Amino acid sequence: MNKIHKINKIPPPIAILNSKNLLSIEGMNKLEINSLLDRADYFADLDPLKIIKTLNGYVILNVFFENSTRTRVSFELAGRRLGAEVINISVDKSSIKKGESLLDTANTLSAMKPNLLIVRHPESGAPKLFSDYLNCSIVNAGDGRHEHPTQALLDALTIRRRLGRIEGLKIAICGDILNSRVARSNIHLLTTLGVEVRCIAPPTLMPKSLKNLGVNCFNSLKDGINNVNAIMLLRLQSERMSGTESPSKREYYRFYGLDEEKLSMAHHDAVIMHPGPMNRGVEIASSLADNEDRSLIKTQVEIGVAIRMATIEAVYNAQK
Ligand code: NCD
Repeated sequence: MNKIHKINKIPPPIAILNSKNLLSIEGMNKLEINSLLDRADYFADLDPLKIIKTLNGYVILNVFFENSTRTRVSFELAGRRLGAEVINISVDKSSIKKGESLLDTANTLSAMKPNLLIVRHPESGAPKLFSDYLNCSIVNAGDGRHEHPTQALLDALTIRRRLGRIEGLKIAICGDILNSRVARSNIHLLTTLGVEVRCIAPPTLMPKSLKNLGVNCFNSLKDGINNVNAIMLLRLQSERMSGTESPSKREYYRFYGLDEEKLSMAHHDAVIMHPGPMNRGVEIASSLADNEDRSLIKTQVEIGVAIRMATIEAVYNAQK
């Protein structure tokens, strides 16, 4: 069972965003991030049946140009819990062409007069392009290798609820950092909130520019997780690899897969996280994935709904 250190009694205000869009964590300040975490923390403890449906008539289009299970469903659930109408649009990969056709899609969607588009796209920058051309709000649900802002927010709240704080923690992000939008959003968020971030990856999956982001880089998992409070594992995103950088799964597990022995190098209370979908026996030993004392993987999914509620409500408020 996860310990909940703090239960808010007085509802915190609707989160304050400096924009009507949520495109990236980069550029957000501490205040914006913490206001989203506080509001979502409150939603996470609320009985869904008691939530006041303040977004009646608000139209959300969930536009996914890439497959997704948890992100799409949790945005849908979050919108519905607030009373909004949510329509899911899965766009066939074959219809994606760059440039004009994306703008054509944007214009078609805009003709339906939505209030909010939630966009997942394989190209970095697609949600920003949508926001440049459309009047409605845009929330980025993951764009290429760029960012996945709500994933980083839900990760942070999951950690805060379990460990009681974020500032001052040591957190390792381990795996295919090169291809991971989750890693990029987490690096921006965690460094903004005062975390010592350690990035661990094989040399071929470690971006050269990482050190400019204020993190420490390690090629050895055992060195990188020494005394950390949390370990975030990442999937080998072979769909974004060119071939040369792809290690064999067996070799990867040997050096970078988290098992009991490697975990013993971390802080004795360290928690394990993974944004999913996870590959047992590649990024993580199956027994650790199911170890509810250490693994927060299921809690991450649960907190995802609360974070997306706080996000939808905040962009709605910023539009007024
Ligand atoms: C991640 C994504 O799509 O970026 N998944 C998620 O949203 N929960 C990570 C991944 O695909 O490995």
